[in-house]
This record gives sequence, structure tokens and C-alpha cells, in this order.
Amino acid sequence: MYSSADDQAFAFLQRFIERESGIVIADNKRYLLEVRLAPLMRSEGLASFRDLVAALQGARGASLRPRIIELMTTHETLWFRDRFPFDFFRDHLLKEHAQSNDGPLTVWSAGCATGQEPYSLSILAEEFAAMHPRSHPDVKKILATDISTAALEVARQGVYDALALRRGMDEVRLRRFFTESAGGWKVRPEIAARITFRPLNLLAGFPHVGKFHVIFCRNVLIYFTGDRKTDTLDRLLQALHPGGHLVLGASETIPEPLMLKHQLARQARGGGIYRKQPAPAGRS
Ligand SMILES: C[S@@+](CC[C@H](N)C(=O)[O-])C[C@H]1O[C@@H](n2cnc3c(N)ncnc32)[C@H](O)[C@@H]1O
Repeated sequence: MYSSADDQAFAFLQRFIERESGIVIADNKRYLLEVRLAPLMRSEGLASFRDLVAALQGARGASLRPRIIELMTTHETLWFRDRFPFDFFRDHLLKEHAQSNDGPLTVWSAGCATGQEPYSLSILAEEFAAMHPRSHPDVKKILATDISTAALEVARQGVYDALALRRGMDEVRLRRFFTESAGGWKVRPEIAARITFRPLNLLAGFPHVGKFHVIFCRNVLIYFTGDRKTDTLDRLLQALHPGGHLVLGASETIPEPLMLKHQLARQARGGGIYRKQPAPAGRS
């Protein structure tokens, strides 16, 4: 049984995690917090959430804060996840951009976890360029960001074991875009070279990241609610060029006021893909 002091400590941790990361831990997910934070609490000699809250408020707070957020992030991902958004990227976005005079295609994978999403996009750009040697868009830079430094470290290494590769990577692409290395298979330099990995908390604001033609932010905002979710979506949409696409998870939607504010159209098929109205001819 939990005492009311335990309940208050749990509520404190819920508020702290949501304020720092946007991640909402529902009241019925207390076990999740217990399981995820158990190793940290053991190593710090903290017996209860009450002890953890006291430590957070004391001298150890500065070092505990990022470690708690790190443990509460979920890095579930796979190659070419859900397939449709990646087919759409290749068959529509790369193709259309190749026919435009809009400079290099700029892409952002926001909440990239361990790197499968940006590497999948870079592989598609490489395949498209090989198939259309005279008319492929220049995809020089894919920005890939995440709040989790542990996930970003895996992404930067670009080495995946058989278990990770089984989740969406086929044999042909494996042989073409990876080399065997200690601990698994390493992404080839030409695929990695397009990608810049950077830590970024989507709650913290990101005026410095610039503007993009395509933003993938898939299965990240599902952990957010209310104003934090709406504000983050609003800022992501501000970072899109006119005519650009925001690609969310298949079941993720954008509230109507933001649809109107940013003049968005939802792609009929596939779900989760939104296009900002292109600029009138002659303006970009
Ligand atoms: C479930 S993964 C999704 C990975 C990938 N986009 C996909 O769809 O396969 C969610 C990622 O969002 C990141 N994340 C959660 N809150 C975040 C925040 N406030 N800012 C940036 N990234 C965040 C997590 O660290 C995690 O790597």
C-alpha cells in the first residue's frame, strides 16, 4: 500500500518529467516509473520515491535530473517504420523536389531515437540518386535530433546487431549500405555523411535549427498532451518551408486551429502526413 506521502512523491515526479520533457506518465503507469527508475534508485541508495524526490531537491538534483529523463524516454524504432511514409518520401517528396528549382532538400528527423529513421531516409536518397543519376534532388543534410544522449550515441556509432537489423532491414540493403564490423553491421560512410546528430529537447524551442522541406516527427508527440503538444507542433510547423511536409505517426493528428493557422492539407492516404500550402508563384 502507498501512503499519501508516496502519492505526493509520485505526483511530483509526474510533474517534473512532463515539465522537463513533455512526456506524460499517466496515473495508472506508476509501475512504469518504478521499473524504469529502479536501477538509478538502487545505484544511488534511494529506497522510495520520497527519497528520490528529496535527492532531486538537494545537492544531487543537477546530476539526477537528466538521468531520470533519460530513463523515461522510449526508443522503440525500426527501419522504414510503417513503410508508407518512407515510400511517400521516395515516390513523391524526392521526385517532386528533383523537378523543382528549390535548392538542396532539407530534412529533419525530430526524435530520431537510435538512428534507424534518418538512416532509412538517407538510404532512400542514395537509392533514388543511383536510379536517377541526372535528376535527383541534392539531399546533403539530414538533421537528426533527440533528447536522449544515450540513443544519440548509438545512432552516431551506426552499428546495429542482428536483432536491430531484423526489424525492417532487408538482405539486399544490408549488403549494399552496411559493412560487417565488431558488434554487428556498420552504416557505410556515404549514408552516414548526410546526417548530423544533435541533442535537442523539442520543448526547449529551436529557432536556430532553420527551415526544412520535410520534417519527420513520428511517434514522439504521442507521449505529450495539451498545450505542450500543441505548442511543439506549432513550432515544428513554423520550421517548415511553404509547400513542406510534416510526417507524424500514422495515427497522430493536428488540431484544427493549427491546420487553419498553417494552411495545412492532410494527405488522403497513409495517415499522419501534412503539407503546408505552397507559396504563391514567384515567392518562396
Ligand atoms: C518511440 S521513439 C520514435 C523514434 C522514431 N521517430 C520512430 O518513429 O521510429 C521516441 C523518441 O522521442 C524522443 N523524445 C521524447 N521526448 C522528447 C523531447 N522532449 N524532445 C526530443 N525528443 C524526445 C525519445 O528520446 C525517443 O527517442
